[in-house]
Amino acid sequence: MTTEIDFDALRAAARDVMTRAYAPYSGFPVGAAGIGSQSRIVAGCNVENVSYGLGVCAEVAMVAVAVSSGVRRLRAVSVCDPDGRVLLPCGRCRQVLLEFGGPGLVVDTPAGPRALAELLPEAFGPADLERADGRR
Ligand code: THU
Repeated sequence: MTTEIDFDALRAAARDVMTRAYAPYSGFPVGAAGIGSQSRIVAGCNVENVSYGLGVCAEVAMVAVAVSSGVRRLRAVSVCDPDGRVLLPCGRCRQVLLEFGGPGLVVDTPAGPRALAELLPEAFGPADLERADGRR
């Protein structure tokens, strides 16, 4: 049986962690929350740096928290902007999320939940590496 995803709880966790973002350069704090097995919620915020390119997106921070706390499989994610509205993950973050949620990961969007496969079609994945096995 699949447990229902509590999007209200996920959005609340994203909004809460967004308030702790470190975004002095962009002024754009972001929060990301994910739900893993046993319905555990993990969250992360963006962490910027004076060397701009070293900044970390909220989704990447959330994934680091997830893996560090033993959650390797995400079922759903919700990301929020500085106003607490649902935000779509940037392109790089979609690839990072694919690693730990797969194409079936449910991504919260302003238009409702959508599978990651729809937001990152024809993604680079493990099968591409397997095809290159003979050359490695
Ligand atoms: N940002 C995220 O944390 N996630 C996204 O999906 C989009 C952008 C952050 C990066 C940067 O710290 C700030 O938002 C402005 O781009």
